[in-house]
Amino acid sequence: MAVPRLRFDPLLRRRSVDEPELMDDPACDPVALAATYRLFAVVNPLVAAWRPVYRSRLRPVLRAAAATGRTATVLDIGSGGGDVARALARWANRDGIAVTVTASDPDPRAHAWAAAHDGGAGLTYRGAASAELVAAGERFDVVVSNHVLHHLSAGELIALLTDTTALAAGVVVHNDLRRSRTAWLLYWVGTLPVARARTFLRFDGLLSIRRSYRADELAALVPAGWQVRPQRSFRLLTVRHGDGAGAR
Ligand SMILES: C[S@@+](CC[C@H](N)C(=O)[O-])C[C@H]1O[C@@H](n2cnc3c(N)ncnc32)[C@H](O)[C@@H]1O
Repeated sequence: MAVPRLRFDPLLRRRSVDEPELMDDPACDPVALAATYRLFAVVNPLVAAWRPVYRSRLRPVLRAAAATGRTATVLDIGSGGGDVARALARWANRDGIAVTVTASDPDPRAHAWAAAHDGGAGLTYRGAASAELVAAGERFDVVVSNHVLHHLSAGELIALLTDTTALAAGVVVHNDLRRSRTAWLLYWVGTLPVARARTFLRFDGLLSIRRSYRADELAALVPAGWQVRPQRSFRLLTVRHGDGAGAR
């Protein structure tokens, strides 16, 4: 598969903001796109470190909601292939927490792929952008996203943070990459086995690292009430606690 050359910036001093990811092209190769969604389910557990986030930040909120006698609710916004949402549902079920997990992505290709690969997880799949869910008056105990912030322009990022503030009664956690040369090199080496495969995993992953923020850059952008927390393994969490009211 012929792919564009990545721009040369070995120090990753600046965010790459004007190079589009291949999978965002509505006319991109559908076979490569499907393979990319499938491989997200392999790569996300290796790089995204959701398990400690679930234990420390999400599970207490879900337990508190369930303790009131209702089913706790989770929204994964920009859910792509849906693997993060399915992992959260699996962990909550294993912990005995009654939970409904919604995976929503406005990209019809992502929505269709995720819904067709539920694998018995029992998620609700929606093709809505965050703003549509706000307009519909939706509220969730927990709202998460994975690898979405680096995709967005500054204006889109603020809009997503505003939307997710409105959507979350309990907590919002946007989990994303932290820009780093070491991360880029490790990913370059780690994805050599798929360098010639028909997937966007390697090209878009390397580009995503270059598009991602450093902690000080993101902290300078987020509105009051949000905290930017660097994590080990080249991650950044952008977190906000909700008002506790009105989750369904
Ligand atoms: C790189 S993909 C990440 C997919 C998935 N979360 C993962 O980590 O594998 C980013 C996704 O965010 C979605 N997205 C961007 N802005 C959004 C918004 N405002 N509301 C919902 N989804 C959004 C895009 O459609 C895209 O599928």
